[in-house]
Amino acid sequence: MQETEKTTTGFASVAVLGAGTMGHALALVHALAGCVVRLYDREPRALERARRLVAHAAATLVEAGEIAPEAAAAARDRIETVRELESALAAAELVIETVTEDPGIKKDLFRDVAERAPAGAIVASNTSYLDPFALVPEALQPRAAIAHWYTPPYVLDLVDLVPGPATEAWVLDRLETFYRAIGKHPVRLPRLIPGYVANRLQAALTREALRLLDEEGIAPEVVDTAIREGLALRLLLQGQLEKADFTGLELLARTLANRSYTPPPPIERSPTLDRLIAQGRTGVLAGRGFYDYGGRDPAELFRERDLRLLALKRAWRRIARSTG
Ligand SMILES: NC(=O)c1ccc[n+]([C@@H]2O[C@H](COP(=O)([O-])OP(=O)(O)OC[C@H]3O[C@@H](n4cnc5c(N)ncnc54)[C@H](O)[C@@H]3O)[C@@H](O)[C@H]2O)c1
Repeated sequence: MQETEKTTTGFASVAVLGAGTMGHALALVHALAGCVVRLYDREPRALERARRLVAHAAATLVEAGEIAPEAAAAARDRIETVRELESALAAAELVIETVTEDPGIKKDLFRDVAERAPAGAIVASNTSYLDPFALVPEALQPRAAIAHWYTPPYVLDLVDLVPGPATEAWVLDRLETFYRAIGKHPVRLPRLIPGYVANRLQAALTREALRLLDEEGIAPEVVDTAIREGLALRLLLQGQLEKADFTGLELLARTLANRSYTPPPPIERSPTLDRLIAQGRTGVLAGRGFYDYGGRDPAELFRERDLRLLALKRAWRRIARSTG
């Protein structure tokens, strides 16, 4: 079961700015941790959709046995959707910025936050690839950080914590203590490393997967089978570097030197991706992407995905405990 009571290290009041894919889910994560959450978006429709998505996600956690129905109901009650930035920020101890990945939009929002958020509030950006510290006004810099999550964050526990050039040490200490206390796995990076760790590794995998489709004519099913049946179990158990210890580092050194395949420079476009997007095959929300989802309701597809992820996570927790 996830922690549902407010911890002593917790934040009583959290503002989540942006109610999209990540915003609604981060509102739920923080509400489950006992925080009162004000979820703000400039689009009223996004707030409506977020309420529905929060309800679905909470129900999935109950269905999977991760949380009790009462905890789900209490968490939903702790989330208030608001249409004015002022009321989102009024009492916030933690402000989570998770609006559209656009530097202009984020810069304007950080300026408004600097003017309106309580003086001691921490401001944490969930940006994937931008440098938010270049967008944050000077007055906010000591309390600004990156707390970057992986979707869906109510299932995946990794949080990248990154200081900016002027971030005070207590800011990351407090975020790290809080997220650990609620069962998350924060990793603290010394400075902004583009793509953090997991996104950078994932970007390399995505590039090579697209290259296999575009340049070698390999089918999406084959790429995904190779990942599932060949890489994924070992990655889950050992990561990549511990796995290398078991392979033997001399072999690794030889394969570096004797490659039959040298990755070419990064690609900026993929013909396969361009073709799918032009056909409106943009992924699960459109009913089709690399695969065809046969017109199934995306909410149902997300539910199935989440239930399977949660089952895997439970099995993984047991295995990790049993092997120390
Ligand atoms: N989607 C992911 O898997 C993922 C994972 C980790 C981090 N992120 C990061 O999270 C952030 C949000 O991504 P997302 O996928 O949730 O985007 P999204 O497009 O699903 O949602 C963004 C929301 O921000 C709102 N918005 C835009 N400008 C605003 C403003 N000025 N004030 C208030 N709301 C505003 C939009 O109306 C929209 O509802 C991005 O920085 C992204 O890089 C995304």
